[in-house]
Amino acid sequence: MSKLLSLTRAARLVGVNRVVLQKKIQTGELDAHDGMVNVDDLLACYPHAELEDTVEIQRISRIKEQAFGKRVFERALPDAEVLAARVTELSKTLDQSQSMLENLKGLLNKLLKRLDETQCDAASQQAVSDLKLWIRHEAESAMEPGLSNLLAIKDNMLRVMAAHVTVLPSGHDFLLEGQDTLLEAAMSAGIPLNYGCSGGNCGLCKARVVSGEVKKTRHHDYVLTDAEKSRGVVLLCSNTAVSDVTIEADVAGSVQDIPYQEIAATVKSVEPLSSDMLLLHLQTPRTQRLRFLAGQSVTLKVGQAFSAELPIASCPCDDRNVLFHVRRQNGNLFSDYVFDRLKARESVEIEGPQGEFILHEKSPRPLYFFAFDGGFAPIKSVIEHAMSLNAESICLHWIASSQEDIYMSNVVRAWADALDNFHHAEHVAGFDLRSMTARREESLLRQLQAIAENENGLMEGDVYLAGPESAVLIAERYFLNLGLPRTRVASSLIT
Ligand code: FES
Repeated sequence: MSKLLSLTRAARLVGVNRVVLQKKIQTGELDAHDGMVNVDDLLACYPHAELEDTVEIQRISRIKEQAFGKRVFERALPDAEVLAARVTELSKTLDQSQSMLENLKGLLNKLLKRLDETQCDAASQQAVSDLKLWIRHEAESAMEPGLSNLLAIKDNMLRVMAAHVTVLPSGHDFLLEGQDTLLEAAMSAGIPLNYGCSGGNCGLCKARVVSGEVKKTRHHDYVLTDAEKSRGVVLLCSNTAVSDVTIEADVAGSVQDIPYQEIAATVKSVEPLSSDMLLLHLQTPRTQRLRFLAGQSVTLKVGQAFSAELPIASCPCDDRNVLFHVRRQNGNLFSDYVFDRLKARESVEIEGPQGEFILHEKSPRPLYFFAFDGGFAPIKSVIEHAMSLNAESICLHWIASSQEDIYMSNVVRAWADALDNFHHAEHVAGFDLRSMTARREESLLRQLQAIAENENGLMEGDVYLAGPESAVLIAERYFLNLGLPRTRVASSLIT
């Protein structure tokens, strides 16, 4: 019987995005059974898959070549006990397959012998002899190492390096690699599981293991009751997956699922992005990470309670690092403090998160982002999140007052280099987008019209707008007048 693979594993094996396989299933090019695909069907779609090195093999080669290999190797490989358990599991499967094969060979030989001994008339004798020939031929070709076997080898390799995790009832799934905990792997995959401290203290990451084997790899102070333990409840921040597992856990689906938090973070660095924009890099304590959905904002308090509400410019998958783009606004006490006095290691209070400018994760539509000046901050967060979810198509138009207001071209170019499904364009308005006049509005509308005329899929897409209120409201009106439904135009207004 052919092996069934989850879509995530199948995509990894043939080196394509999961969305590409979903499309093939929708168009009928690839069969799926209960969300799983058959190795043979996968090979029919990707006949040359066996010729390419797997991501895993390439990754291991790279690791070996690196001078500081040991440290990276330790991080990339699972914990030694987990590795041993996975290899043991694989060995059991191999052993079962080998004994099944031996039994089948024995059965085949017995069948051929019985046919040899069969007494019958000349006409039937010919039929029996044809049948024996056919059986031998079929058996030989079935035993030949074929394409499926090579792909199966890759899959076995991937099973040792990474466990597949399914989350119920949401249906999310992800791969857990190296020594990550279940919580870390989910966050890297952009899945907002419920959690609090991420250090084994609060119990908010409790989840029930429905099937598969997990292993505690980090100590936790939080005490699970005997009843919870007997139901298979574990802490996601302290356990890793030994085998493929299914867990029952809460996933934040809306901003209402994210609690209000107050966190004392530390300044990791303050770096200029342009003459009037700074990158503020905060780090939260190990025991209290910020939970938020990509695109949301928080209130920051610095110095003697100078505060500002700022969109987060990083992805929730970015561990303890929380980034902000701070614009110089002369006379604004918060901005003056950050530009002139804030130093590394200083404490900054984070309160929040707030805001509903988030990715519609379930939407299958292409994504169109319009960043006006510093509106790039929340859009960067949402795009990075969309990338971690393997969004099908992402397009960014950065419309700026001046060339200097496109202050992270390098990041956008790096995305374009790394991803086939991302394209972008920069546009300079030539006037201050924060101070609009009738003439400037006309000019902005002309730019939007030119963009809309060149983007064929725009009317079928989801549009995300972020930037100064004056520019975003004009753009919002423009896209609604164009005929896009209200539910497909999201806006974030920043100061
Ligand atoms: S997140 Fe607090 S115990 Fe796991």
